[in-house]
Amino acid sequence: MPKAKVLDNIYWVGAVDWNVRNFHGYTYSTKRGTTYNAYLILDDKVTLVDTVYAPFAEEMIEKIREIIPPEKIDYIIANHVEMDHSGALPHILKLCPKAKVFGTAKCKEGLQKHYYGNWDFKVVKTQDKLKLGKRTLEFIEAPMIHWPDSMFSYIKEDELLLPNDAFGQHYATSRRFDDEVDGYALMDEAAKYYGNILWPLSSLIYKKIQDLLKLKIPIKMIAPSHGIIWRKDPMKIVNAYLDWANNTAKPKVIMVYETMWQASAKMARKIAEGIAEEGLDVKIFDINQSDRTEVIKEMLDAKGYVIGSSTHDNEMLPEIAGFLHFLKGLKPKNRIACAFGSYGWAGGAVKNIEDSLKETGIEIAQQPISARYVPDENELKSCYEFGRNFAKKIKPTN
Ligand code: FEO
Repeated sequence: MPKAKVLDNIYWVGAVDWNVRNFHGYTYSTKRGTTYNAYLILDDKVTLVDTVYAPFAEEMIEKIREIIPPEKIDYIIANHVEMDHSGALPHILKLCPKAKVFGTAKCKEGLQKHYYGNWDFKVVKTQDKLKLGKRTLEFIEAPMIHWPDSMFSYIKEDELLLPNDAFGQHYATSRRFDDEVDGYALMDEAAKYYGNILWPLSSLIYKKIQDLLKLKIPIKMIAPSHGIIWRKDPMKIVNAYLDWANNTAKPKVIMVYETMWQASAKMARKIAEGIAEEGLDVKIFDINQSDRTEVIKEMLDAKGYVIGSSTHDNEMLPEIAGFLHFLKGLKPKNRIACAFGSYGWAGGAVKNIEDSLKETGIEIAQQPISARYVPDENELKSCYEFGRNFAKKIKPTN
């Protein structure tokens, strides 16, 4: 992709990673790829805000070179240490070794421990300002959104927020702005990003956004470090973040299960029929056929979770166990759940599931339902009633 003009004298000089399908190791599937966004500001002091993942360093440098010789960069803002944004920093600093790097104290420590460079680093804190010429950068520390070093930068003259990972999406396109792309796909990727990366940090995110709103900082544009720039309606993503961070949940049920011989799958379909009968949205995922990252995205705004497994060696099956382990790390709040599953003789899966959900802080809303071997007609009727009963606990009352 060529460079792109963001505003007068501000250019996107990032990279589009079309083919990445797994991110953060294998913790996040990126079916739409991603982008690493870096921004070049031309002013009395030429400033680069963030860089890209190291394999794309040359691509970023070429884009910069089309605008200005990289040797002319005076300042580099490191909003975040993680390697998808800092990987190209040693490469660009070889071309402009006198450039000053700005970031938080934790950023300084983190960059040193990643790259062992002897760079001119200036520590900045919230409310510190950096005059570039016509423009001034202001810094807002954002610890644990999502690393201890994280920081937002803000350009008052343009009302432009550069919040690094916050408000980003793993979404590779040839377009740069929200008014140029499919709105559904954009919000889908933003929700997936929040659910799989930021959800456990919700209380900090809620407070940080409230603090920003209290400061009445005008925001005309939000340019994150992944995906699309919000310029049509930046408050749309800010308000979505407030909802997600507040753990606002809809009357919707997500069922996730694992099955050996389809008996638990039969139970799942009957339970879902009961839930649907009560007028609630319900989605069923066999964890062995589903993308975990997508399932978590669906869970982000759902009030109810129904989790099932066949019993194997007196335990739940291993894939659903791994899924619940991942869910525990996301710390969802304000959710209710129930468990189901088939067994042959001793059982054990439903108790495992309930224990895991309780450890996650999710309320168990009703007794589990089990069926021995293959559920008969009566047991399937009970599954249907089980689903209806669970749905009634979620349905809005007026
Ligand atoms: Fe996109 Fe936390 O790195």
